[in-house]
Amino acid sequence: MSNNTVFSGIQPTGELHLGNYFGAVSNWVRIQNSKLYQPIYCVVDLHAMTMPYDPHTLRQNTENMFIDLLAAGLDPEQSIVFVQSMAPEHTELAWVLGCVCAYGDLTRQTQFKDKSEQLEGKQDAFISAGLFTYPVLQAADILLYRAGLVPVGKDQEQHLELSRDIARRFNTQFGEYFPEPAVLSTETPKLLSLADPTRKMSKSLGPKHYVGLFEDEKSVRAKVRSAVTDTGEAGTEIGAGALNLIGLLRACGKLDIAQAFEREYANGPRRYAPLKEAVAEALVELTGAMRQRREVIAADRERVKRLMREGAEKARAIARATMKDVRRMTGLPKHEA
Ligand code: TRP
Repeated sequence: MSNNTVFSGIQPTGELHLGNYFGAVSNWVRIQNSKLYQPIYCVVDLHAMTMPYDPHTLRQNTENMFIDLLAAGLDPEQSIVFVQSMAPEHTELAWVLGCVCAYGDLTRQTQFKDKSEQLEGKQDAFISAGLFTYPVLQAADILLYRAGLVPVGKDQEQHLELSRDIARRFNTQFGEYFPEPAVLSTETPKLLSLADPTRKMSKSLGPKHYVGLFEDEKSVRAKVRSAVTDTGEAGTEIGAGALNLIGLLRACGKLDIAQAFEREYANGPRRYAPLKEAVAEALVELTGAMRQRREVIAADRERVKRLMREGAEKARAIARATMKDVRRMTGLPKHEA
């Protein structure tokens, strides 16, 4: 059996930015459009509950991320696009898999260590058990659809490895059932913060550090204009900030323009004003088109709600069948949820 089911998830952390878009979502769209796979994409709201959050904001962010994904090019006719908590089988399978996941393996997850250390520094630090068992839920997300391929970045490779360990242990204990999911790796550009090009583009650093995929022209131009670069003096090496701007041009498909700057910069002083102008142009073009699409989709709220329901139904059709097998294999009573 060839397994071409692709699964990936994104946390509803607020609007998509260029880092998420070029690093993940545009790749999801390419996977979908290649027609080589059966893609399933999920807004993982349950994962977002593992860090301190506000309920009202979570609900809004979840719906907004669903709309963002459609605007960015996911097509509910070609991909299953849905919200994790609307398919309760995810949490049900997570419990079962938690019982075939080694406690010691969870203690070695670097993302847990990083995030819990971040929290420890804060006042009223609270580190939830959910943050600790997060990778089990992630394994459930993937295995519920018996997906073989998972497009994720480097930072998620350890979680994927754990998903394989969990699948293997389940199979050993209860019989061959889950495929071991592999990372579907593609070259995606790693975009850096505009204000601090020593760090990757991320929302948590603050608004100066990222450009939103739907951001308005004025603020896109302002952010690009104030992007940090080196002095450009002849004979010095080109810095990370300027390379990041060239990377943005390439990500936007402006390969010729990017190459022209590279040629110009190879010898002699580097003038960055024209580069910034070109980057701003490319980004204004992209974000303008994205914003227009988003406005059309968001205007029909009834349709959005319907697409969320239909996405969840399609996901659940697969998820229910898996849970039926899992219940049988693991000694739970027959039960139709
Ligand atoms: N942990 C992933 C992240 O933070 C999101 C995620 C949740 C995910 N479940 C998944 C990614 C399943 C791929 C497959 O980016």
